[in-house]
Amino acid sequence: MELRTCAARSSASPSSGRGAVPSPRLLSRHIWSRSAHCTASTPSNPVARRSRFSTLSLMTTAYNTGPPDLVDFNWDALGFQLVPTDFMYLMSCSSDGVFTNGKLVPYGPIELNPAAAVLNYGQGLLEGLRAHRKEDGSILLFRPHENALRMKIGAERLCMPAPSVEQFLEAVKLTVMANKHWVPPFGKGSLYIRPQLIGSGAILGVAPAPQYTFVVFVCPVGHYFKDGLSPISLLTEEEYHRAAPGGTGDIKTIGNYASVVSAQRRAKEKGHSDVLYLDPVHNKFVEEVSSCNIFMVKDNVISTPLLTGTILPGITRRSVIEISQNLGFQVEERLITIDELLGADEVFCTGTAVVLSPVGSITYRGRRKVLQPNYLFFSSCAI
Ligand code: COI
Repeated sequence: MELRTCAARSSASPSSGRGAVPSPRLLSRHIWSRSAHCTASTPSNPVARRSRFSTLSLMTTAYNTGPPDLVDFNWDALGFQLVPTDFMYLMSCSSDGVFTNGKLVPYGPIELNPAAAVLNYGQGLLEGLRAHRKEDGSILLFRPHENALRMKIGAERLCMPAPSVEQFLEAVKLTVMANKHWVPPFGKGSLYIRPQLIGSGAILGVAPAPQYTFVVFVCPVGHYFKDGLSPISLLTEEEYHRAAPGGTGDIKTIGNYASVVSAQRRAKEKGHSDVLYLDPVHNKFVEEVSSCNIFMVKDNVISTPLLTGTILPGITRRSVIEISQNLGFQVEERLITIDELLGADEVFCTGTAVVLSPVGSITYRGRRKVLQPNYLFFSSCAI
């Protein structure tokens, strides 16, 4: 099994005189064509919690797997549903905090004590990343170091030991390679990788678990939203909030997702694709969607909500910011009011699961604002 890292195609800076800034209508297409080729690695020595995400470099991790030998599967029918694959990875540690003896095992249920901290107190984290099949059959991982680092940050917040970056990367690589027949053909989807870190040890009082388990499983996926890359419809939520200041909105803890399903169900019952959350203090500033970050484009300036502690620092979010800056766009991370968002030229969401999804409408206080996404780009890009 060969591991290669290669630099992304270009990382020219805005000041490098590469010509005119692309028009806003073409923006998403430019971002996509860049992001498809750019992944990153970061140093394995994490620094302060919030500054870690500023250390991205543009690198790609590629696995040369030989000619693809795929399972017999209808790749055209892929959505974002669970498809059981062959192997998963398990590694555990006790109170010494040292993860050892990681191994691949057949994919299937894991045994948990009913008193496990993750079941009772939600002491758990998840990650999400993708492996893509290239035209030549090799497999690319998108910025896996970033997921490893983000898991360490979340683990600190939840008082959990975490696998080292090297252990995380090895686990991901082994799991992908063991399931390489499940990596969809080029252009037909990708392999979604779901690492989890859970407090698996039994405990009765509220305290860190005595044991932890690190799991990696994978699943071939297509588009996240049921209508593929068609523009999504967002319903603004004012009653429920995704996260509060001082809470855990900026880490990928499992409870962040349990708390959004009720508003999401309500939005879906009304025919919307997902929920747009506002800040919990003023109900005025845009935060994020249930499973992704949000961007707006206005007068050629790209803006996304500032990471104030209640918003997940998305890896696709960071990638879009960097690529846009490299293309010469002005990018702002700042507070964005819902009124500003409704006046945008273009709105799109970013995330590992949703990749880049155009927003076609935002409903706020009963009024539906229709937005014009870049159809040309979104109809032609593959995930
Ligand atoms: C991802 O984008 O990978 C996520 O973790 C969102 C997921 C909850 C669907």
